[in-house]
Amino acid sequence: MAPDQAGGTLVEPKNSDCPWDDFDSHSYYTHNYGVLRDEDRKIIEQVRDFFAGIRDVYNARGLDVGTGPNLYPALAMLPLCKEITLWEHSRANVEWLQNEVRGHSPTWNPFWEVLTEKGRYQSVGDSRQALARRAKVHKGSIFDLPRAEWDVGTMFFVADSITSSKQEFTRAISKFVGALRPGAPFAIAFMENSTGYQAGNQLFPAIRVDEGIARRKLEPYAPDVIVSHIDSDGLLRDGYSGMILAHGRLRK
Ligand SMILES: C[S@@+](CC[C@H](N)C(=O)[O-])C[C@H]1O[C@@H](n2cnc3c(N)ncnc32)[C@H](O)[C@@H]1O
Repeated sequence: MAPDQAGGTLVEPKNSDCPWDDFDSHSYYTHNYGVLRDEDRKIIEQVRDFFAGIRDVYNARGLDVGTGPNLYPALAMLPLCKEITLWEHSRANVEWLQNEVRGHSPTWNPFWEVLTEKGRYQSVGDSRQALARRAKVHKGSIFDLPRAEWDVGTMFFVADSITSSKQEFTRAISKFVGALRPGAPFAIAFMENSTGYQAGNQLFPAIRVDEGIARRKLEPYAPDVIVSHIDSDGLLRDGYSGMILAHGRLRK
């Protein structure tokens, strides 16, 4: 966790207190995405079915915020998008992404195979080439996102996993939805009841989120949002109780 000026540890760090630029991308990637886990498969299936059913968004501009070392939200937007912005704050993760999107590792193949169980994804062709052409990595903070620029968006384990401040959590959600155009489809994932996590040797903060909190935060922007709990084997972080997926369309 972030050190304070006396060399101790901040108990409730805010986003700017954390050493994001030194995020251990490789360690986070191998721990979380080295293999396709059951909980990610369930999330991918739901997001896939949702995006595959969207008929009025195509050749779109997609946004994934806080991409970190996770390509599957961007892969899930491919059929809808002519370009996808990966908006990431950490220098280490930006460098990791710039390299990975150029020709992604075969470890992403099982994730893509789940997506291509739906025909809409098969029409993308080679996911490596498509992502290399369409993904643009941008170094920036969620708190500096411009308004109403993107047609579709994803944000996985970010608003809840970048701060221990409830105000910042709420602001992160409003910045993400504010960056999307009215009516935009979106998918957001949260860790359920997490209080923090490790990337390599470093600890990062999290906010406790449950289904009720996720629904209350999102309904003002998307009255028909669907929020669901995803069971987990509990091996990714200490103390969390599963994952939460929220998906829907912003009000017009
Ligand atoms: C728990 S990781 C999630 C990574 C990835 N989206 C995933 O699904 O595993 C949190 C991510 O948020 C990024 N992040 C931290 N502060 C941020 C900020 N202010 N704006 C945008 N991204 C930020 C971190 O660098 C990291 O990539």
